[in-house]
Amino acid sequence: MVTPREPLAHRLQGFGASIFAEMTALAVSTGAINLGQGFPDYDGPRDVLDEAIRNVAEGNNQYPPGIGVPALREAIAHHQKRFWNLSYDPDSEVLVTMGATEALAGALLGILNTNDEVVVFEPLFDTYAGCVALAGAHLSPVTLQPQSDGRYGFDADQLRNVITPNTRMILLNSPHNPTGMVFTRDELQLVADIAIEHNLIVVSDEVYEHLTFDSAVHIPIATLPGMYERTITISSGGKSFNTTGWKIGWACAPAALLNATRMAKQLFTFAGGTPFQSAIAVGLQLPDAYFEQLAADLQRKRDMLLPALRDAGLQPITPEGTYFITADIRERFPHGDSMQFCRALPAQCGVVAIPGGVLYDPRHSEEGKHIVRFAFCKQDDTIKEASQRLRSWA
Ligand SMILES: Cc1ncc(COP(=O)(O)O)c(C=O)c1O
Repeated sequence: MVTPREPLAHRLQGFGASIFAEMTALAVSTGAINLGQGFPDYDGPRDVLDEAIRNVAEGNNQYPPGIGVPALREAIAHHQKRFWNLSYDPDSEVLVTMGATEALAGALLGILNTNDEVVVFEPLFDTYAGCVALAGAHLSPVTLQPQSDGRYGFDADQLRNVITPNTRMILLNSPHNPTGMVFTRDELQLVADIAIEHNLIVVSDEVYEHLTFDSAVHIPIATLPGMYERTITISSGGKSFNTTGWKIGWACAPAALLNATRMAKQLFTFAGGTPFQSAIAVGLQLPDAYFEQLAADLQRKRDMLLPALRDAGLQPITPEGTYFITADIRERFPHGDSMQFCRALPAQCGVVAIPGGVLYDPRHSEEGKHIVRFAFCKQDDTIKEASQRLRSWA
């Protein structure tokens, strides 16, 4: 009998099944509260939902133009100008994608050549490593570490030292998943200086652009001097309008840079999500008060969960943005094995979290072995119940 060949491409070997699937399955089988996956368990703004319903009902259900419906491209360009003072031509410098994920895949596969190197800040969103591998390129990780001031930060020398003649790109994410770090202007300037000195492209994932807390301010790196021309800025409607399942995202960049993304993107989905595209256009035009309330609500949820994690004997780092809190488990669990912790937590405590080690480059998985990520983008009652479970388990 002929042994079947391994069907998985070499480039994808070493990437196990997603940890999110394993933890969500555990949530279902134990009835635990799922603070693992980062999606809100509440709906987005009524006007946005109604626009999608109206579109479906009125027969707006066929393929959109490959680059996206004009109303959304115009709304994205207008949003970039209104919030960040960045100017993009809606016809040649804005590309609508199926979520930020497709924009990221398009940028990475459209630009990278085999053996190119991509600087990333770890822990990192899991799509990055997979897409860099699919492109035949390699990760050059720079590790974000908790600093004495209670925020995450990075070592400028480590950033400088990972650059080689093969470095082609810096893949930045701010506000950052999972650390909740919002890069300061000085931190962005360090990244920008290196990008300019080595003539690198920057892909900037800004899906949490509106989710910043306290005095943290989101600064798109494209606004720094000399960066506009080398930056692809990516975002999506999922986090800003609580519509993660719609998968309407976008990329903005000067036309030549955007074109490389578009060349790859057209081979994936080509286009999609017609009725949702103009609904997200409605969302992008909501008044400032909507975006302020969105961040304030999330900050309140963060502040409900943080003390419960401390009471449970964990050491959370206060996030400056995003949906996530990371916590160090070592004081209560000296073994420091977050995988073991997360596999036991649903049955013991009735809460699901994500182990941090899997979000690091495999060469550095020890760096995040003791880190656990909790999502707080859940209804207040859900957070209250999770907090109570964490406290009674303590
Ligand atoms: C940093 C980051 N980038 C991209 C995405 C994916 O965005 P989308 O759902 O629009 O594809 C996520 C979703 O969790 C994320 O956390």
